[in-house]
Amino acid sequence: MSGFTYQLMFLLLLVSVSLSPVRCLGNEASSEERTLAMIKPDGVSGNYTDEIKRIIVEASFNIVKEMLTQLDKDTASAFYDEHSSRSFFPDLVTYMTSGPVLVMVLEKRNAVSDWRGLIGPTDAQRAKISHPHSIRALCGKNSQKNCVHGSDSTSSAEREIKFFFKDVVSGLVSSPLSLLQLLRLSSIQVLSVITTDQPNPIVMPGDITSQQHDEL
Ligand SMILES: *[C@@H]1O[C@H](CO)[C@@H](O)[C@H](O)[C@H]1NC(C)=O
Repeated sequence: MSGFTYQLMFLLLLVSVSLSPVRCLGNEASSEERTLAMIKPDGVSGNYTDEIKRIIVEASFNIVKEMLTQLDKDTASAFYDEHSSRSFFPDLVTYMTSGPVLVMVLEKRNAVSDWRGLIGPTDAQRAKISHPHSIRALCGKNSQKNCVHGSDSTSSAEREIKFFFKDVVSGLVSSPLSLLQLLRLSSIQVLSVITTDQPNPIVMPGDITSQQHDEL
């Protein structure tokens, strides 16, 4: 073999050795999960925002991002696209566009299932009986006006977080980020991950509408 081949093999060995401990570290630290939470129009207008955020923080969730926004018809329809053929869809869109919503990215270990547990069953009437301490028992009215939303799986969480926050990395994240993960991310995403503990400025409904069209 030529000298060049040896040099190349040595270089490859060096790279694999230097990356392997990072890979282990990255896997070990990948315990945090993210989910999308939303306080729906009746929750916001019913003055439940502070109470719900207090419950969220008490349950050890980290609120990574938040945005107060007014959904328009197109945005609400796109968000609930999987239900578009259902009979309740027009009502759902009307309800979701009836006032501002507070959208949040929540982070903790098992964020998706823990948040679903905290909000309780979809039907708020049932929640009041079977899960009296759940958020939907606190502020929901029925199975549609049920006060809060939570992603139903990690893949939904990924889609829904991207839907509202294009710059946030969803799903499993590790902190600190491993070198490999840093390499996989674009520089813009890395910047947003590094700055995630600074809360997003809350955007008032009037301000967001035009901006929202561009983002979605
Ligand atoms: C809104 O809720 C907070 C507690 O979460 C309470 O202190 C405040 O008085 C309420 N405001 C109104 C107008 O009901």
